[in-house]
Amino acid sequence: MEKQVAIRLISLLILATMVTAAIDKSPKTVEKWFKNLPHAKQKTTRFHFYFHEIFGGENQTAPVIAQANITSQSATFFGMLRMFDNPLTVGPEPNTKQVGRAEGIHGAPSMTELALFFNFNFVFTDGPYNGSTLSVLGRVAESQEYRELPIIGGSGVFRLAQDLLVLRNAVVIATLM
Ligand SMILES: *[C@@H]1O[C@H](CO)[C@@H](O)[C@H](O)[C@H]1NC(C)=O
Ligand SMILES: *[C@@H]1O[C@H](CO)[C@@H](O)[C@H](O)[C@H]1NC(C)=O
Ligand SMILES: *[C@@H]1O[C@H](CO)[C@@H](O)[C@H](O)[C@H]1NC(C)=O
Repeated sequence: MEKQVAIRLISLLILATMVTAAIDKSPKTVEKWFKNLPHAKQKTTRFHFYFHEIFGGENQTAPVIAQANITSQSATFFGMLRMFDNPLTVGPEPNTKQVGRAEGIHGAPSMTELALFFNFNFVFTDGPYNGSTLSVLGRVAESQEYRELPIIGGSGVFRLAQDLLVLRNAVVIATLM
């Protein structure tokens, strides 16, 4: 049977402001950090990653987990929900160094335009951010060339993080397998 596989490569520019914290998450350390918060300095971080999303095929990373009975008749896939666990890499090729995963859900929330709402976490597994997370919540539309999603928080070194994630679709490769 022929199966359509699409790979979406997304370029991510992450701009985060956070209050510097140690990676140690023990309650005692966190309490101490919290006490010192009024005197703490804000730090701004900027990094650039790629995430790879595969639709269909045996290695898909974003399967459909639910959809409405009207989704199949909707030009905008209204009501479709996917759970994803996408590798996060330093370069556009999937075999470049992996620094973490993007885990969460996205769904089609609009009846009139191609759009996605996102609710996910960056889970860092390498380098200075290993063990830390950034939480993202927002909406993007297909018609936007550059897409922004708000960073609403974080854990570990990203405690109290805020600011912005700028997404850009780099390539969509569709293959028939
Ligand atoms: C799926 O992943 C496995 C393990 O990495 C790999 O051997 C296989 O070729 C992949 N399949 C496709 C269709 O890419
Ligand atoms: C969807 O479900 C509702 C409620 O069960 C039903 O009234 C409606 O006819 C269904 N629509 C389609 C397109 O199947
Ligand atoms: C990331 O942290 C985990 C848990 O502390 C550790 O097991 C792992 O080896 C670390 N990975 C890297 C690449 O440093």
